[in-house]
Amino acid sequence: MANPAQIVIFGASGDLTARKLIPALLGNVAVGALSPDAVQVIGVSRSARTSEQWREDLAAWVPVELAEAWPSFVPCLHYVTADASVPEQLERLHQELDRLAEPMGGESKVGRLFYLALAPELFGPVVGCLAGRGMTECPVDAADGWRRVVIEKPFGVDLPSAQALNRELLRWLREEQIYRIDHYLGKETVQNLLTLRFQNAIFEPLWNRNHVESVEISVLETVAMEGRRGAYYDGAGALRDMVQNHLMQILALVAMEPPGSLSAAAVRGEKIKVVGSLRRFTPKEVATHVVRGQYVAGPSRDQAYRQEIGVAPRSRTETYVAARVLVDNWRWSGVPFLLRTGKALHRASTEVLLRFRTPPVDLLNGPVSPDVCRLRPNTLRILIQPEEGVRLSFLVKEPGAGMRMRSSELGFDYGDLGSDRTPPAYQRLLLDAIEGNATLFIHKDEVEGSWAFADAIRAGWEEADPPVHRYPAGSHGPEAADALWHGCEGGWS
Ligand code: BG6
Repeated sequence: MANPAQIVIFGASGDLTARKLIPALLGNVAVGALSPDAVQVIGVSRSARTSEQWREDLAAWVPVELAEAWPSFVPCLHYVTADASVPEQLERLHQELDRLAEPMGGESKVGRLFYLALAPELFGPVVGCLAGRGMTECPVDAADGWRRVVIEKPFGVDLPSAQALNRELLRWLREEQIYRIDHYLGKETVQNLLTLRFQNAIFEPLWNRNHVESVEISVLETVAMEGRRGAYYDGAGALRDMVQNHLMQILALVAMEPPGSLSAAAVRGEKIKVVGSLRRFTPKEVATHVVRGQYVAGPSRDQAYRQEIGVAPRSRTETYVAARVLVDNWRWSGVPFLLRTGKALHRASTEVLLRFRTPPVDLLNGPVSPDVCRLRPNTLRILIQPEEGVRLSFLVKEPGAGMRMRSSELGFDYGDLGSDRTPPAYQRLLLDAIEGNATLFIHKDEVEGSWAFADAIRAGWEEADPPVHRYPAGSHGPEAADALWHGCEGGWS
């Protein structure tokens, strides 16, 4: 069980707090990972309300499966009306935190997690104000009395803005105090990539350019611009919204070298090296290695992207990106990583697919010309969501005379483990932040490295202005993305 902690949520009246953060903390209380006697959640927001009112508002969002734990958690919730960028108002919050900390051993014993569920432009000013009042000071490696800050993406919109944000945060905090969340790392199936690769002896020897022909990473979504999402998305696009963060994180876990341990320094150090080895495309390479698309009306949606609320009528923002990414290091040189993600597609599915090379000799068919494509019999498919599992495919002989082959599969499904509820990503990540485990959070160098990669693509788009391919909502995405596969490599799964 974690040491006593106060979780201070700035942006307490927002959607994220009610939908994700409070249920995640409650989930930890329900499974006994956090004790209601040793945790307090202090919501902070400018809208005036009492703790009672806040508790009532939050009650409406409690998931049914957590309803039983709710009454024991309610007394942990407190609300303070304050504008975090106004020093006098912060002072009031500070006093309130100290007062609440008394029954848990006083402020020097109680850890404080400042969760900035705020617009990104407020990250710097709010941290500056907290630090200005001494609220973020703590000894290095403090076991209790620690002070940490959690921030949510976007961490900048390009490399210069990400660097500026990191510089500003590092004026006030040490890197070890900053917990940058990417909720994909909270997904069980994403974390399982580490177990699958490094806790088994059979995969690692094959996990390289000698045996793997290609790696496909797909994050397909059926959702489009629900509600007022278009207003944010039109300024971001799929490259910034999904590729720079979530897809890069999955890629880093698939491509990294084995870490020496599961410590934050070891794991993040290896991921940083992968991100640093990504080929930064020249504008010419962008044209041949990246395809962008935007949905128009189709079977799953009557509206084109350009007709969505908040989207410019002549917008060229991409709602789909596919890329043939290259990792220029000894393990992966020459192996394409084919990435794709998009909105309003035919199905929602996130998976990683490794295709292994063909056997060097085909005993049944004899020598074949290199121009004739042969079946790749072996693939390893890692299903991340909504299906959760692993599938290994291989050829088997069909029963009977002769030698006919068919594809078969060994499979594992998370459901078979009998756990009735996979903990949501935020539940795991919040607990890790409270316990001071930063392994599943993003280091500043990962953020900057992946922006450098994404910025090169954006620069290529700006310079050469390649087409934004239209695709019907509910389709597989633009056909132009098929051309990213070469020769006998196959196509999108
Ligand atoms: C968010 C993006 O970070 O991740 C959204 O901003 C996207 O556009 C979402 O839909 C996907 O998350 P998940 O967990 O539903 O796959």
